[in-house]
Order: sequence, then C-alpha cells, then structure tokens
Amino acid sequence: MTLLLDRPNQQALLDLKRILIVDDEEPIRRLLGYMLQTNGYEAVLASNSHDARQKLEKQPFALMLCDVNMPGESGMDLARNILSKHPHTAVIMVTGLDSSLLANTAIDMGTFGYIIKPFECNEVLIDVANALRRRRLEMENRLHRENLQDIVQTKTLALQQALEWLELRTEELQLSREETIQRLAIAAEFRDSATSQHIQRMSHYCELLARKSGMPSERCDLIRTASPMHDIGKIGTPDHVLLKPGKFTPEEFTIISQHAEIGFRILDGSNAEILKVAAAIAWTHHERWNGSGYPRQLKGTAIPVEGRIAAIADTFDALTTQRVYKPAFSIDHSIDLMSQHRGEHFDPELLDIFIASLDDIKIIHDQYGTQSPRGTTQEP
Ligand SMILES: [Fe+2]
Repeated sequence: MTLLLDRPNQQALLDLKRILIVDDEEPIRRLLGYMLQTNGYEAVLASNSHDARQKLEKQPFALMLCDVNMPGESGMDLARNILSKHPHTAVIMVTGLDSSLLANTAIDMGTFGYIIKPFECNEVLIDVANALRRRRLEMENRLHRENLQDIVQTKTLALQQALEWLELRTEELQLSREETIQRLAIAAEFRDSATSQHIQRMSHYCELLARKSGMPSERCDLIRTASPMHDIGKIGTPDHVLLKPGKFTPEEFTIISQHAEIGFRILDGSNAEILKVAAAIAWTHHERWNGSGYPRQLKGTAIPVEGRIAAIADTFDALTTQRVYKPAFSIDHSIDLMSQHRGEHFDPELLDIFIASLDDIKIIHDQYGTQSPRGTTQEP
C-alpha cells in the first residue's frame, strides 16, 4: 500500500541523475565532476567519507563514484555502509590500484563497477550509464514485486472481508430461519397454549441427546431446529378436543392422535433437509420402541432415530412441567417413571444416554424456565 501512495517519489528516485563524487584528490574530483556535468548529470563533490555521508543524509543520489584510498575511513568501508543504508544509491569504485582481489571484493559487496585510474572520459561515462541502467532495472524489478505483493494483499483482504460478510449473513439467515420456525411452531401450538419455553426446552433436550449419542454436529443442529414442529399437526385438531380439560373419550383420543399424521402431511414433500427431519419427527414422535405407539405402530429401529429422540425429550418435558391435567413432577420422579418404560416406550440405549446426561438436562430445564402453560393438551 505504501508503494502506491509513494509512487511519485519512487518515480523521482528512478529518474534521478545526481551523482556523488568522493575523492581526496581535488583534481580528480573536479575532472570527474566536469565530465559528468557536461554529459547531463548533476555532480556533487565530497573530499572524504565524512563529507560524503553528510551529503547523502541531505539528499538522495543515484550513484556514488568512490575513491578506494582516502585518509580516514576508506572508500571500501564507506561503500559498504552506503550500500546497506542507501540501497537506492549505486556505487562504482575508483582506484589507482589494479587489484583483482580488491575488484572482486568490491563486486561481492554489491558495487556496480570498478574504474582504474588513469581513466578515459568515455570509459567513465559508459560505466556510469551502465550502472545507472542496472540500478533502474533492479529498482523497477523490486517495485514490480512490491506492487504485486501489494495487489495480492489488497485482494486477499477483500476476499477475507467478503468471506466474513458471507459468514455473517449465513449465520443471520440460519438464526432467522430457526427463529421463524420456532415462532410458527409456537403459533401453531398457541391454541393449546404450549409455551415458547416448552418448544425451546424440548428442542434443546433433543439436540443434547443427539450430541450425546454421537450424531454429527450438523445433524444435531438440524434436529434442534426441526423438533419445534413436532406437534404442528395439532393445527388440524378441533377445539372441542384440543381444549378439553377432562379425560378424552376413545373417539377423542383417536382424533387427537391424528396430529402426528397431519403434521407429517403438512411438512412432507420438501427437498429441504430441515423439513424432511421435521416431517419425520412429527410423524414418529409418538411411536414406541415396542410397537405400541401411533400412528403406524413402528417398532425398534424402524422408528427414525430423530423420532425416538423426540419421544424421550417430549415426554420428559411433559412430565417435569405442570399441565392442566397434572402437576409438575420432579426430575427424579420423572426419570423413575420413564425408566419403568425403558425398552417399552423408549429406545433403551437412548434413554440410558439421556439419564447419564442429567446434569446437562437440568441446566436446560432451569435455563428455559417452567412457566405453567394455560392448557397444554394431554396426548395419548
Ligand atoms: Fe405430539
């Protein structure tokens, strides 16, 4: 990002023609300066390393022509320092000593050339032009790489933000779908005054039991979301049966028993997995492990596991909360009653898991309260 903001400065550095000449011999300094000035360069002269450093701190240079042997700090030490501190400045060494060892050392340090005195004017101009061309190519290459990195970073950031946005929307959609289902389920059950707490407790018992029995997490979430619709078929039960406070006649039992089938018919036929699970729960939550349930008298594992889970969760909540036809039983008493029907009404393995999870069950029981419903219907 910095590169894009600093692009004008980078371009100015690329186009720079200012050259620093460092030599303790004044005639050499002046000669080099004159040669460069007359060929379109801006020449700045320094008589020693200290002077050169000060000038480099004040303004940028494209190139430094640096004598090797100078009093005080040597040209090699100065060059080494400048190459690390001012990477945009190219360096050419100038010396009267024709030493391959020195030349190799200078090249290994990163200098761009090695001119031996006495030099020809053209020789210097060619070396300077070559050094500046190489400097420009290296800088452009580095800028291009930095530019690419910047683009990749920007795109990656944009992608991350898009993914976060998408995750947030998906989460919102999931929450709103879950809340819509819960509200519809409450609306459907409002006629027999089942409370929203019943819906929440029951769905969380279902999810807990599904998790404890080792079902995949996504399936457990689906069961929690779908289970509130287990009694949606009561929408088709006549008021005189649904709202009857006393005991049902056999005919009335038959009528209210139809809510499982009606619920299934309302929910069946969708391609949405949540509605498939909801339809299965509505249809089978009154089936019993020994085949004495309704509406199809399914037996054992012929009852979908979601239905077996819902049967335990629904019965436990009915027992532990007050209904118009019964008081709220204690959790221990409710578990005792359900245990008596282990392997008859309930899947024995699932019931064992449910009982083993009693600490977590109590947390859900307490968390969602046990507000008395005005008239939750009895179910056969
Ligand atoms: Fe039911």
